[in-house]
Amino acid sequence: MRLGVLISGSGTNLQAIIDAIAAGELDAQVVLVVSSRSDAYGLRRAYEAGIPTMGLSSEVYQDPAAADALIAQEMQVAGADYLVMAGYMRKLGAGLLAAFEDRVINIHPALLPAFPGAHGIADAYEAGVKVTGVTVHFANEDYDAGPIIAQQALEVCEGESLESLEARIHAIEHVLYPQTLQLIAQGRVSITADRKVSIT
Ligand code: GRF
Repeated sequence: MRLGVLISGSGTNLQAIIDAIAAGELDAQVVLVVSSRSDAYGLRRAYEAGIPTMGLSSEVYQDPAAADALIAQEMQVAGADYLVMAGYMRKLGAGLLAAFEDRVINIHPALLPAFPGAHGIADAYEAGVKVTGVTVHFANEDYDAGPIIAQQALEVCEGESLESLEARIHAIEHVLYPQTLQLIAQGRVSITADRKVSIT
């Protein structure tokens, strides 16, 4: 399974994927990492792992259609089978999603459909929920609303700080994302006629 990974920031999920591949736990190859920012630390992680990278200039990123067209082209040239969003801070447009139909995966730091958007952890924390978690899902044109592949819940501890909760959520992400990608690599994940995910 050839993965094209989209990032915007620190790239800890990208690192978890790289590490899982190196450990033989994920039968995949990362063929290209694209960042919406050319100064994202995740690009350095990719470079150090010998993975080709592309950082979008702010000029290109500011034009969503141009950015998506460039990503689609470069990912296809790189031979990506799946696009893996790992902290990429923008919804992908219809053209790019169509080019990788049902082959775009995202991770979200809350139990969707609760707390979508860019601040899932903080929004859940502020709401005072007792349980939150992590969701891996197929991305579609509705933000954070595509078919759910995997979720893992965690209880918010009494008096826990936001920083502590963030750390525990990220720790779950770093296990759940590679594990879920491995299910896909094994051909065990399919989307049913009613647009739900079936895992065998
Ligand atoms: C993760 O919390 C992910 O769920 C969200 O963005 C964050 C990316 O973190 N979509 P990193 O860049 O992988 O460290």
